[in-house]
Amino acid sequence: MKKNLETICVQGGWKPKNGEPRVLPIYQSTTFKYSTTEEMADLFDLKADGYFYTRLANPTNDAVAAKINELEGGVGCVLTSSGQAANFYAVFNICQAGDHFITSNTIYGGTFNLFGVTMKKLGIECTFVDPDWSDEEIEAAFRPNTKCFFGETISNPGGNVFDIERFAKIAHKHGVPLIVDNTFATPINCRPFEWGCDIVTHSTTKYMDGHATQVGGAIVDSGNFDWDAYADKFPGLTTPDDSYHGLTYTKAFGKKAYATKLVSQLMRDLGSIPAPQNCFLLNLGLETLHLRVPRHCENAQKVAEWLQENPKVAWVNYCGLPGNKYYELAQKYLPNGSCGVIAFGLKGTREDAVRFMDNLDFVAIVTHVADARTCVLHPASHTHRQLSDEQLREAGVAPDLIRLSVGIENVKDIIADLEQAMEKM
Ligand SMILES: Cc1ncc(COP(=O)(O)O)c(C=O)c1O
Repeated sequence: MKKNLETICVQGGWKPKNGEPRVLPIYQSTTFKYSTTEEMADLFDLKADGYFYTRLANPTNDAVAAKINELEGGVGCVLTSSGQAANFYAVFNICQAGDHFITSNTIYGGTFNLFGVTMKKLGIECTFVDPDWSDEEIEAAFRPNTKCFFGETISNPGGNVFDIERFAKIAHKHGVPLIVDNTFATPINCRPFEWGCDIVTHSTTKYMDGHATQVGGAIVDSGNFDWDAYADKFPGLTTPDDSYHGLTYTKAFGKKAYATKLVSQLMRDLGSIPAPQNCFLLNLGLETLHLRVPRHCENAQKVAEWLQENPKVAWVNYCGLPGNKYYELAQKYLPNGSCGVIAFGLKGTREDAVRFMDNLDFVAIVTHVADARTCVLHPASHTHRQLSDEQLREAGVAPDLIRLSVGIENVKDIIADLEQAMEKM
């Protein structure tokens, strides 16, 4: 029976049999027992399904992966130990030294560094493009060795909305998949596969968890990209893998080739798995995702409208505000709301902004974003401090930008706290 998102949030993933726990158990075990050598050997050869070592699969982790997979409408989901690991694996699964990929330049600072600095050291080059460029300008970035295109549904912290359908068409025209980081929108507000995206990633640390209790990531494959149609570009998927007895992923696993390779090769060799305990916590968060996300959006909309009317505020970027540069794109991709994150700047000096933040009462200064508690951050002095002013601007982050992550408290209290802090500026 096909279920709605709300039911999947609560009931997806863990399907207890008679007499099994109703609540997802934490299988805090590295290993799983077998009676014969052959049974274990079949697992190693990928001939049989089953658990043998938690680096490769664990029942708690798998139940949560199945839930996220169902929420996004994919054919396979792999959980990782962080959102950073998810974005790295999503690209590294189809790129190797000598390859190239393209990314929107309005992405999270950590991903910006990962792609522009660390992956370069592995011999994988990345071109940053401005999503505002024309199709011709974007297409000029493609090279014969380009392997994928990357963007964020709603960028952190700029709040730019990514035109998924447009970039999926461009990517497919050049024979590569589109990867979208859907962290801020969550599948409650946007399901990128419905717009032609091929692979979705998440930092599950954010709304999916929602309580700031664990760091985690997820990669979901739509199963829609035809790797065999571009077999020369993706030899890792379409030619025999020597480390798996010459098995070819697309032949052996069809639509599940990408996700299977990711686990059986990258997880086996690099091993950034989440702890089962963390997956348990993530699952508790997912059970209320469909209730929390609309409340975040409702509160953020009211706060954004209040900020916009406030004479102390220089500018507000929230795609739910009519007249915002991304309002039309948000209506298309995020008709039920975008997220709780607002970017704004205050009139005055940098010191005024610091005074405002230091005077807040329960709205706390934290590095985190997108959990139940309202929090605030100055990216130029915190998360993005490793970027130069030029890189900041390229990433769509103004030096005076304050990132406000609106929580699910009473919105009147949130506004009252912002107001009293502004009065003391
Ligand atoms: C959009 C986005 N992607 C990825 C990440 C990285 O996730 P994590 O902190 O879980 O490694 C973040 C972190 O803020 C993010 O906002």
